[in-house]
Amino acid sequence: MIDRGVEAIKRAWHRDLVADPATHAWVLSLYRAGELYPDTVDDYFPVAHAPWPWLAEALARHRDDERRHGGMFARAVKLSGHAVEDFAGDDVFNHVIRAQTPTRWRVDDRDGPDARRLALAHFLAHAHHLELRVSRSLEMHLEACEQGRAAVAAKVVSAVLADEHRHIGYTRDAVRELVGDAAARAVMAHHRRAEARADLVFSSRQVARFLARFEARATPSRKALYRMCAAMQGLAARAV
Ligand SMILES: [Fe+2]
Ligand SMILES: [Fe+2]
Repeated sequence: MIDRGVEAIKRAWHRDLVADPATHAWVLSLYRAGELYPDTVDDYFPVAHAPWPWLAEALARHRDDERRHGGMFARAVKLSGHAVEDFAGDDVFNHVIRAQTPTRWRVDDRDGPDARRLALAHFLAHAHHLELRVSRSLEMHLEACEQGRAAVAAKVVSAVLADEHRHIGYTRDAVRELVGDAAARAVMAHHRRAEARADLVFSSRQVARFLARFEARATPSRKALYRMCAAMQGLAARAV
């Protein structure tokens, strides 16, 4: 019931963001920051530690997809006549989900084969849940772009989503292949919990950021609705 209410508010939020070119450029820049995050760290896409050629190829393709997505979002912003913004820290979803994830996955060269597989499984489970969250957000954003006749952004988001769906599939399958069904269930549950907490923390922060920056662009009733939604998400984050 509460989840459906929050989802309805999020859909309205995306429609409002798309309706104003300045706020639309802001949210497209936020998506871009997530796409660029892997190149700011040294423990994403550990291609050299994949035990099978198919997984090494999938990881390398995934890494290249995210770089390409960053460029696609940047072009969509520029075509709207606005400047691309850079974001870091708590404004990047990857950063937030990592802050909510107790486990690290960096492979140590001294690790044996089993430890390497477990580390890789943790990275892939992290990526899987991150992709699920990004896809949920992009699906709502695409719907808003289509309704708001934002054709350029709709085309970009649609193409990105097709790749994200592929990322969701291979990361899930690879975790099972790497560590077996029982361990995969535990690893996936660990990262599912991190994603649930991070989703609430990130969403409530971005609503607050929106209201601080674009307050004059929202109607009083919408502002009240968004404040209520952010407060609910903030409370829920503490309970997850
Ligand atoms: Fe992406
Ligand atoms: Fe992706």
